[in-house]
Amino acid sequence: MALENIRLEVMKTVEKSIDEFVEKYLIPVEEIWQPTDLLPNSQSENFFEEVTQIREEAQELGYDFWVVLVADMVTEEALPTYESWLMDMEGVEQHGQQKGMQNGWAKWIRHWTGEENRHGDTLNKYLYLSGRVDMKEVEKTTQYLINDGFDIGTGRDPYRNFVYTSFQELATNISHKRVGQLARKKGNKMLAKMCNIIAGDEMRHHLAYREFVKTIFEYDPSEMMLAFEDMMKKKIVMPAQFIRESGQGIGEAFENFSNAAQRLGVYTTQDYIEILQKLNEYWEIDKITSLSDKAEKARDYLMNLPDRMTRIAERIKVPQDPHQFAWVAPNGKL
Ligand SMILES: [Fe+2]
Ligand SMILES: [Fe+2]
Repeated sequence: MALENIRLEVMKTVEKSIDEFVEKYLIPVEEIWQPTDLLPNSQSENFFEEVTQIREEAQELGYDFWVVLVADMVTEEALPTYESWLMDMEGVEQHGQQKGMQNGWAKWIRHWTGEENRHGDTLNKYLYLSGRVDMKEVEKTTQYLINDGFDIGTGRDPYRNFVYTSFQELATNISHKRVGQLARKKGNKMLAKMCNIIAGDEMRHHLAYREFVKTIFEYDPSEMMLAFEDMMKKKIVMPAQFIRESGQGIGEAFENFSNAAQRLGVYTTQDYIEILQKLNEYWEIDKITSLSDKAEKARDYLMNLPDRMTRIAERIKVPQDPHQFAWVAPNGKL
């Protein structure tokens, strides 16, 4: 059987359990929080008071903080790119009504998107109310990011895509959580709560995607191992890698944003290494048997990678001078 066919077979097999995954890892619309639960209610009499409070509290947060929050928000807002990318994976069929059944993977992706969509909404509204960022510049960056599209090196391969999403969901969990901690330290309770609750969603998503991979390891260990190795060799590229400010090329903004995130300790090279270690452990790649020779070598590579990356990371110095972004004025005020 051709390799692609095995992948499709595996996808079909896992698809049979998709409703259980939806039930276990996602929350129904009527039960889950909405952005409005975390933001001032514009129908309430206290609306202006609450907005004033947000704006006062926002004065306590520094330049790098706003840059990171903007980039996090823009990354969430480019959700159309991610949904269409995942919908294009092998084994996902948007149109199909196979034997009267809706394709389970399309359902998963739509429900996941529905949850994710609330993150950008929440942060966008908060940033708008905070008065600390140039919203038009931020909005242009979002539109550019969607226009430019992205290539995360997975192709249409579900195995590679699920390695990516397992990794990326944990990365966003960490960064939202840390932004929330910084906000709390400076007395921004409302923002802290927002970030924390978003981080909770990311964690559920991470747990689901890592379970998909774990299951695939059972059915197709060698190919899953090779896909994992391939993604780590390419490095997991953050969606934010492709952000740009008005008038600039792709890549410049990301480097400066990533330095800001490292300076704040919101997301660091060490975090990247720890995510990899956690995936290695959860997928128990050291215990997987019946691998092809090539997959054995891939496993060795993956097992050694955290140490190798730690040695390299020790030599990297993060620039200390904040970069001036069009999103945020030097004194944080416009
Ligand atoms: Fe998100
Ligand atoms: Fe996410």
